[in-house]
Formats: sequence, structure tokens, C-alpha cells
Amino acid sequence: MAAATRSVLFVCLGNICRSPMAEAVFRAAVSRAQPAASIACDSAGTAAYHVGEQPHPTTLAVLREAGLATAHRARAVVEADFETFELIVAMDRANLAELRRRAPEAKRASIVLFRSFDESAAPEAEVPDPWGKPIEAFREVYTLCARASVGLLAALTPSR
Ligand code: 4NP
Repeated sequence: MAAATRSVLFVCLGNICRSPMAEAVFRAAVSRAQPAASIACDSAGTAAYHVGEQPHPTTLAVLREAGLATAHRARAVVEADFETFELIVAMDRANLAELRRRAPEAKRASIVLFRSFDESAAPEAEVPDPWGKPIEAFREVYTLCARASVGLLAALTPSR
């Protein structure tokens, strides 16, 4: 029997810097390591400041450096996301707290920090906000996303 489709939503504040990067990096990790895996991915922001916009130009530049691209347009988290997605992955503690505040109680346990999947990260470690910072900050986001994606993929595709 085919494995059930898994689903994950990546969330930051504006959905233009970190979470679209996380989504693109995770998609690439899935297609490289588990091309047969069926994992639905999306990203969204807890704020609606940038709805409809493309990812930040520096997010796009750093993805391009890695040979990746994204057609994502920013959107805000909606109530239905808590039902649609099996797992909601927050980039930092402020967004984690905001998501848990908005979520129905039964769904709170499925909202976790992205870096909790990175074995080398300290407990409660965050993907820091690079907005307004130089490209190095966005490259650091890329590195953190790549590390956490390995663990997230392992968590979603347990070996049988
Ligand atoms: P993100 O970065 O949450 O990683 O997309 C930000 C983007 C925009 C703003 C803050 C953070 N803003 O305040 O507009």
C-alpha cells in the first residue's frame, strides 16, 4: 500500500525571507534523497504585510546560488492551515507562540520549531530573521534550513 501523503507548512513572519527558503530547500532535499516520497509543502507568514509578493530578492539570490528556484507568492496563515497540514514548522519562537495561540488546542503539538529537527542545534534554536541584513545572513538561513531539512525528512519518512 502506498504511504499516506504527508504535509508540512513552513512559517515565518512575512513569508518572504525564511519560510519560502525553507520550503524550497526542503523540497530539494526530498527530491534528492526520497524522490518517491509524497510530501505536500507550502509556506506562509503569521503577518500579512507582504501578501502576494515574490520572495525577498536576496532569498531568491541565495536559492539561485544553490541552483534552486521558487514560484512562491507570500500568503498569510489561515485557520484552515491547522487542519490541512500534518506538521507546521515555525522558524522562530515568536512565530511558534503565535501559531500555538491561534491553533485549536488539539493541533498545538503538531506546531514545532524547524531547528528542532537539526541534531546539532541547541534546544529552542531559531532560524534568525535576515530581513534588512546583508546576504551573509540569508546564506546562514540557507545553511540552517539545509541542516534542519535532513532531520525533518527523516522524521516524515521513517525507515521501515
Ligand atoms: P521573514 O522576514 O519573516 O523571514 O519573511 C521578514 C520579512 C518582512 C518583515 C519582517 C521579517 N517585515 O517586517 O515586513
